[in-house]
Amino acid sequence: MSERVITGEQRSEDQDFEWSLRPRRLEEFVGQEAIKAKLRILVQAARGRDEPIEHILIAGPPGLGKTTLANIMANEMEVGIRTTSGPAIEHQGALASILTNLQDREIFFVDEIHRLSRPVEEALYPAMEDFKFDFVSGKGAGAQTLRLQLPRFTVIGATTRQGMLSAPLRDRFGDLYPLYFYSSDDLFQIVRRSAHLLKVPIDEAGARMIASRARGTPRVANRLLRRVRDYAQVRASGVIDEPVALDALGMLEVDELGLDAIDRRILQTVVEKYDGGPVGLETIAVSVSEAPETVEDVYEPFLIQLGFLARTPRGRVATKLAYSHLGLVKAGSDQPTLF
Ligand SMILES: Nc1ncnc2c1ncn2[C@@H]1O[C@H](COP(=O)(O)OP(=O)(O)O)[C@@H](O)[C@H]1O
Ligand SMILES: [Mg+2]
Repeated sequence: MSERVITGEQRSEDQDFEWSLRPRRLEEFVGQEAIKAKLRILVQAARGRDEPIEHILIAGPPGLGKTTLANIMANEMEVGIRTTSGPAIEHQGALASILTNLQDREIFFVDEIHRLSRPVEEALYPAMEDFKFDFVSGKGAGAQTLRLQLPRFTVIGATTRQGMLSAPLRDRFGDLYPLYFYSSDDLFQIVRRSAHLLKVPIDEAGARMIASRARGTPRVANRLLRRVRDYAQVRASGVIDEPVALDALGMLEVDELGLDAIDRRILQTVVEKYDGGPVGLETIAVSVSEAPETVEDVYEPFLIQLGFLARTPRGRVATKLAYSHLGLVKAGSDQPTLF
């Protein structure tokens, strides 16, 4: 059965929390119906033929369920899963040692696959195509290539940056599974499911309130639930209803669209300091004290989805919608100093 191997990543309390809420089977995975239907067929067909499933690539912003789906596929196939991430595989030898140790039909999950080094990526091509690994030993004229036969296996790649994937790597996957932001109804179901698992008392309106402010993202929904639970315990009777959820979210500075203080500072930077843009990513990142990659991967996709921000060749531009949203925020509440 599946095992958890986390490489190049520190286990934290947050990760433990996520693991405890992670759906184990496709039927528990809420939403993304089209993708689930396709994956179900892959599993049935592969199991019928006693083959590994084809290589699959899952793309989408953080927190939408990429890691969860990879682990679910291992559970559905009843095979093990090896987890690593692009930057963690340092050289071809490291890749060879993982691949040669896989069992038949196991899953090799590569998170952040767009960050594989070039030589490792190139060594992965023949491995994906016909389970072969060309190992070069020695250097110069005396160099020899050893061709290793690998077990049959499946690569599941996950990426937040589809655009950064090389064409040859992209071509080696059977299909691309793009994950989209979740509807408020899907998130409502996720909040209810998580509350049930965590034994948190919550009513329907309370769960809908959290879902509506979760930026279309299951990870955010679960985090907000946890924070609101703490608030309910300390400041209220422990039950999450709508007023309690509203108070707690207000204290967390999460507004009615799910934007937090950093989201608003990003918009304010573009609107107020740079007159709506265009502004470069680096400039925005500096003004909110975050890494450019974090701004690009974590914050921008949802702001773009809302139609607040657009990416242009010359930089980020704020839309009219962003102006009016900021206007409301500015008129409606006295924003505390952000830190
Ligand atoms: N479709 C879903 N249904 C229920 N919970 C989900 C779903 N997608 C994600 N989650 C929850 O959100 C958290 C983050 O998901 P994860 O797979 O780690 O996202 P990613 O790998 O895309 O960043 C997990 O703990 C999981 O519990
Ligand atoms: Mg992940």
